Formats: sequence, C-alpha cells, structure tokens
Amino acid sequence: MIVVFGSVNIDLVSKVERFPHPGETIAGADHVVAAGGKGANQALAARRMGAEVAFIGAVGTDSFADLALAHLHADGVHLDRVVTVDGVSGTAFITVDAAGENQIVLSPGANAHVRASALEDVVAGPGDSLIVQGEVSMTETEKALVWAKGRGLTRIFNLAPARPVSARLLSLVDILIVNEEELRQVAQRSGVHGGASDVVETLAADLGLGVVVTLGAQGAMAQVEGQAARCPGFPVDPVDTTGAGDAFVGAFVAALDAGLRLEIAVRQGCAAGALACLKQGAQPSLPTRAAVDAFLDKQELV
Ligand code: RIB
Ligand code: NA
Repeated sequence: MIVVFGSVNIDLVSKVERFPHPGETIAGADHVVAAGGKGANQALAARRMGAEVAFIGAVGTDSFADLALAHLHADGVHLDRVVTVDGVSGTAFITVDAAGENQIVLSPGANAHVRASALEDVVAGPGDSLIVQGEVSMTETEKALVWAKGRGLTRIFNLAPARPVSARLLSLVDILIVNEEELRQVAQRSGVHGGASDVVETLAADLGLGVVVTLGAQGAMAQVEGQAARCPGFPVDPVDTTGAGDAFVGAFVAALDAGLRLEIAVRQGCAAGALACLKQGAQPSLPTRAAVDAFLDKQELV
C-alpha cells in the first residue's frame, strides 16, 4: 500500500498566449476548474497505476471541498483519514501559456491544517510506502516521516515546490524526488556543484539517500541504493504540463511499491509524466495503467 500525506487543491486554470507583466491585464481563455494539489495528484497517479492508496489530507467547508476529492473518491483512493476544517479548501491559481508552461499562485487553505496525528491508526508496515511533498506543514511532514520510519515503510519525499528543509527531515527520507530547479536549490544548500548527473551522485552519497531528478522533456535520472537509472524521456507536444511531475512521482512509486526494478520505475514514471502533458488540468490528465502500457508499447515500435 502507498500512503500519501499531503495537499489537495482546487485548481483554477486559465490558458493565455503569454504570461502578463506586473501591472498588466491580459485576456485568457475560459478557465477550467479541476481537482489538484500535489498530494492528491500523486495519490491518484499511483492509484491509476493500480496501487492501493490511502490519502491523508484536509479540505475546507467551502463548496470546492467535494469537487477537490471527487476523482480520488471515484478511483477508489482510501479517504477515511481526510478531515474537514473550517475555512477554504486549498486553491491554486494557475495560468498556462501557449508553450504549455505554467505559473502557479497557491493559497493553502485547509492544507495548513494537515496533521500527522491522522496517521496514528493507519495499518501499514514493511513493503508499504509513504509519499510526502512540500505543500503542507514541514513540521507535520517530519512527524509523518518519523511515523513511517518507525513502522518500516519506504519514505519518498518529493521536495516540490522548492523550499528549505532541515537536515533532520532529509535524514528520515529514503528517496528524494526533485526537478532541476529543486535539485539546484538542494545542491546549493548542501554546497554541491556540477552538472545534474554529478550532483545527483554526490548528493546521494553525501545525504545517504536515493535521489531522482525529473528533467521535463529530457526524462529523468535516478541514483538509488548504489544503482543508477536514466530514461531519456518521450517527445510529446505539451498542452499543459500541470500535474506531469505528480504523474511521475505516483507512477514511479507505484512501480517500486509493486517490486519492479528502478529502471522500469523511472521509465514508467516518465511515460506517465509525458501523458499527463497531453491534457489540460492536473487530475483529469493523470493516465491509467492501460494508457501507460499502450504508450510504452508504441515507443518500442518506433
Ligand atoms: O503539481 C501540480 C499541482 O501544484 C497543481 O495541481 C496545483 O494544485 C499545485 O499544487
Ligand atoms: Na496536465
């Protein structure tokens, strides 16, 4: 089983030709309201790859709450530890430009009230995994990691969005997943310099944990328990990259949780990430196992 401890948001997405300058108003296309949030997205991504998943998070008392959980509910993610707190649900204001790149303003709302105490009676142990991200309290995230360590779960930290984290928190992590910008920031704080692959190797050795870096269209590279893996990525014409990183994390962890090799997990993650770029929105774009398998079969033919 995979336990995901983290955020759930409603994403308000508007497509624009280009991003506005400060002080400028520009016209966007009709906006889309869709479920998102890195925690919820990763839970759904792993679930759609066939994993059993429990999501631990919080929604508000506003009209967005049900919508925020609708995909998770429909796809059978366990939601009995999700709490409702007074106030608004997490909301992300997203603009996507013509190239499919995004800019996000995140209003945390109920995500600020996610507590590790919700994990207390979750039944999980060795062979199971915990995924955390950077959109809920780092103090509570650290407690969640302590909980998981005590029970022997594999602990995965997707340090997104980038933020400073303590050495103590990192010491509780088995596998750190970051994008290039997040990697740059971690490397800088750890005094490590060089190209991405050198940095991954050095960080993995220095911090004593697995490191996975997602490289957008260039795929991903991983260094976990002395093993290295690299997927060159799959060329797609992106419509909206929102949720691609979460698709990678969910599919990658689902593969590892199912006992698959690192190389296969990285490839599965990259395929899921590429497919998530083909549809607007985060959760509506997360692929199923069948879609990922069909996509990978097609890649082998060309
Ligand atoms: O990773 C994408 C997610 O980041 C969006 O769904 C949005 O909610 C923000 O949290
Ligand atoms: Na998307």
